[in-house]
Amino acid sequence: MLDPLKTSKFFVSSVTIKPVDLLVFLFKTTLAIFTLVSISLFFHFVFSNQSICLTSTISNNNQQQKFIAVNTSSAQAYGRTNLSHVLFGIGGSAKTWNERRLYSQLWWRPNVTRGFVWLDDKPPGGENLPPTSPPYKISEDTSRFKYTCWYGSRSAVRMARIVKESFELGLDNVRWFVMGDDDTVFFLENLLTVLNKYDHNQMYYVGGNSESVEQDVIHSYNMAYGGGGFAVSYALAAELVKTLDGCIDRYASFYGSDQKIHGCMSEIGIPVTKELGFHQVDIRGNPYGLLAAHPLAPLVSLHHLDYVQPIFPGMTRIESLKKLITAYEKDPSRALQHSFCYDLKRNRSISVSWGYTVQLYPYLETAKKLETAFSTFQSWRTWKNGPFTFNTRPVEKDPCERPVTYFWDRAESGNGDRTLTRYARHVEESGKECERLDHAPATGVKFIGVSSAKLNPAVWSMAPRRQCCEVINGGEGADHLVQVKIRGCHRFETVTPP
Ligand SMILES: *[C@@H]1O[C@H](CO)[C@@H](O)[C@H](O)[C@H]1NC(C)=O
Ligand SMILES: *[C@@H]1O[C@H](CO)[C@@H](O)[C@H](O)[C@H]1NC(C)=O
Ligand SMILES: *[C@@H]1O[C@H](CO)[C@@H](O)[C@H](O)[C@H]1NC(C)=O
Ligand SMILES: *[C@@H]1O[C@H](CO)[C@@H](O)[C@H](O)[C@H]1NC(C)=O
Repeated sequence: MLDPLKTSKFFVSSVTIKPVDLLVFLFKTTLAIFTLVSISLFFHFVFSNQSICLTSTISNNNQQQKFIAVNTSSAQAYGRTNLSHVLFGIGGSAKTWNERRLYSQLWWRPNVTRGFVWLDDKPPGGENLPPTSPPYKISEDTSRFKYTCWYGSRSAVRMARIVKESFELGLDNVRWFVMGDDDTVFFLENLLTVLNKYDHNQMYYVGGNSESVEQDVIHSYNMAYGGGGFAVSYALAAELVKTLDGCIDRYASFYGSDQKIHGCMSEIGIPVTKELGFHQVDIRGNPYGLLAAHPLAPLVSLHHLDYVQPIFPGMTRIESLKKLITAYEKDPSRALQHSFCYDLKRNRSISVSWGYTVQLYPYLETAKKLETAFSTFQSWRTWKNGPFTFNTRPVEKDPCERPVTYFWDRAESGNGDRTLTRYARHVEESGKECERLDHAPATGVKFIGVSSAKLNPAVWSMAPRRQCCEVINGGEGADHLVQVKIRGCHRFETVTPP
């Protein structure tokens, strides 16, 4: 190995210049510059017309350069990125594919989405997989690689290489390699909305962190967690595949494939570009609080759905996901987006998490509280009440201190550019209800109707702002059904109690 100190000493001594030499050098340079300037001035006066012409060409070129520099997003420069430009690489295993593919089948679009699930072997019934299932490929043998994490599984090596094996298929017109697990559910329109913010010809590594701080501390805050899914631009994938196999051996002690990829990204010098819609879902228990307080970003993915309770009460996991997807499809950009409004006639607060749930508070709650997630879940590794990478607030034991909750029921209409959706009151399994008289009018509301214009995906490339809402049937008939209209906020409009 070269001694770096010795090397730099050698470098310094080789460029040492004597003061006399420096003076001679400066004199010669000045003379040369003076001569050049005189000659060019002479030509400038003689051929002044041409000279002006030249200058204007140069400034035109500059303008053009500026134009290109401002228009850096891939949408403007190369046309919008659509699903045909995305190659999915799903990590799976032959043994579990027949169960896990149910998650992939929720979002996979045969003959539209491109990509493969990468398995270690032929899955049972491989010839008869339904056409709605992503096609499979069998990964290359990885026994030559090192894996030394005693509590992990060697399959991490195979998973880490999916991006490389996908790249090496050499398929046409791929702009992004999107990696995910066999239990990752992608929301495709929103994935495209996010990818269209970035230029695939630059090196981008887009994804999200774990929700559990303990995970981010052990693994990394700078890593895109594999289950939440992450996107590697073509330009970055081209560099990554050159160095990946080496990284896999160098980071043999790392537990997960995403960590091995991250090791490589650190070597290339590419940080993760965090997008808040990728959800690793490193939580336990009931994901309600997490989903009901989604950040102001499009919902891109959900993961670990086998490890949390079904997202809608009283349904299976897959059925409840289907229900969420039905809502999502009505207005993808708006899915899970928050809006808060006050009914000042009745002193109530209404918090809409569009497509999923509504909370009705029989008092005026601050926006600050309303946007904070209810702590209905625990941390991934230690099953504790946190900390998470976002704030939470406790769920009160006393039902009178909790909002009345509603879940997505159905879309009453939603084929034009507006939707009218309905949320039905949820009675908790425990059956415990608030029996206080002042609570009764709120618990008497059985449905919340929400109308809104479909949210234009273009808002996601602008400064984020939560939309406003207003209660539109404050009068009679509002006992059982409260109607809310979501709309963009007016200038200077805020969610402020009087
Ligand atoms: C970017 O390009 C589009 C057309 O390709 C053009 O309409 C738009 O004005 C450009 N934007 C800027 C800021 O130059
Ligand atoms: C996707 O974009 C390409 C151009 O890059 C275009 O040829 C193709 O028709 C588009 N596909 C869809 C489904 O819009
Ligand atoms: C996909 O395309 C193939 C060939 O074009 C066709 O045979 C098949 O029926 C299509 N599958 C679906 C689910 O549309
Ligand atoms: C709403 O709250 C305000 C302030 O606490 C109170 O003055 C008003 O009477 C309340 N209105 C109703 C309808 O309860």
